Amino acid sequence: MSLPNVPFFEYPRLWSDDREEFLSIIDSVSSAGGFILQKAVLDFEVALANYTGANYSVGVGNATDGMEIFLEAIGIKQGDEVIISSHTMLATASAIKVAGGVPIPVDIGNDNLIGIQAIEDAITPNTVGIMPTQLNGRVCDMDGILAIAKKYGLFVVEDAAQALGAKYKDQHAGTFGLASDISFFPAKVLGCFGDAGAVLVNDKALYHKVYQMHDHGRDVDGKVKCWGRNSRLDNVQAAILSHKLKTYDSVIARRREVAQMYQDHLGHLEELQLPAAPSVESDNFDVYQNYELQADSRDELKAYLSGKNIGTLVQWGGVAIHQLTQLGFNQVLPNTDRFFQQCIMLPMNVFISNSDVDYICEMVTQFYKK
Ligand SMILES: Cc1ncc(COP(=O)(O)O)c(C=O)c1O
Repeated sequence: MSLPNVPFFEYPRLWSDDREEFLSIIDSVSSAGGFILQKAVLDFEVALANYTGANYSVGVGNATDGMEIFLEAIGIKQGDEVIISSHTMLATASAIKVAGGVPIPVDIGNDNLIGIQAIEDAITPNTVGIMPTQLNGRVCDMDGILAIAKKYGLFVVEDAAQALGAKYKDQHAGTFGLASDISFFPAKVLGCFGDAGAVLVNDKALYHKVYQMHDHGRDVDGKVKCWGRNSRLDNVQAAILSHKLKTYDSVIARRREVAQMYQDHLGHLEELQLPAAPSVESDNFDVYQNYELQADSRDELKAYLSGKNIGTLVQWGGVAIHQLTQLGFNQVLPNTDRFFQQCIMLPMNVFISNSDVDYICEMVTQFYKK
C-alpha cells in the first residue's frame, strides 16, 4: 500500500480550489479597464481597515516596501537604531537598512517572539524605535513593548506581515503602533497571486505621507507633495483579496482547528515544545500563519517525515538575523541560537484534511518511539 502524501504547501491549489470565481474576478476588473489605483484597490483598502480596526490602509507592492515606506514616512535618519527580534524574516531588518536606519536584532523571550527585557537591554542613545514581528500569526506582549517605548520615548511600528486577524487583548495585530505592514504573499493566510502588501496606519497625517510615498509623491488628490516611489497594489490582486477577505474568518477557524489537533495528538511528547494551543486561555488570539515547534533531533525528524511523504520546513534555512554575519551582525543571542537548532514547521494550511493531520501526528510519534 502506498503512503499518504502530505506536501508542506500546495501552491497550485490556491488557484484550482476557486478557479471559476478567480477567472470571473479577473475578467470583471480587466473588462472595466481598471488596472491601477481604481475602485478595486479603494474597496479593498476600506475593507482591510474595517476588518482590523485601523483608521487607514494603503495597498502597496509588497510588505517589505510597506515597511520601508512607513519608516521613511516617520522620518528615520541615517544611523537611527530600530530594535527587532532576531527571530524574523530578513525583510524586517532590510527595510530598516534601506530606509537609512540600523536594525538591531535582539533575543527572543519564552514565547519565541521578541524578548521584553532584551529590548530594554539593547537601548542606546541612538535608539529611535521598536519594530516587533508578530510572527507565525501571534502577537507579541504589546503591553510590555508599549511600556518600554513610553519609558524611553521610542516609536513602535509592527511587522505584522504574518499576522492579519491575530489579536492581543482583542486588538488586531498591526494597530498598536504608528504603522504596520501586512503581506499577501501567496502562502500567507490571506494570499494573492503574486507579490502584494498593505500598510495600516491610524494617524491621518502619516496616512497621507505613506500614500504619497507609495505613488510618486502624489497625494489622494493627485497633487505631488514630496519625493516618492511606485509601490502600488494592483487592482486585480486587490479584487481577489477582497473576495478572499469575505471568508477569512473561516480560514482562521480551520487553522485553529488544525493547531488544536496537533496539540491533542502531540502535546504529550516530551521531545517537542509546541506553540500555545488555541484552547489555552490567554491574551492572544493566534491565526497560525505557521505551526512552528521545537523538536529534539530536528534534522533526523525532518528526514524521517520526508521518507513518509510529509513535507516540513525549517524557516529561512534555519538562520536567524543575528547569524547573518556577512551583513555585519555580531550580536550574541543564546535563546535564538537554541531555538534555531530545533525549530521546524509542520504543514499548516486549509488544504490538509483531518486524516492528513492524524497521519502526520502518527509519524511524529512513531519517530520518537523508535
Ligand atoms: C515576518 C515577515 N516580514 C516581512 C515579510 C515580507 O513580506 P513581502 O514578501 O510581502 O515583502 C515576510 C514575508 O514572508 C515575513 O514573513
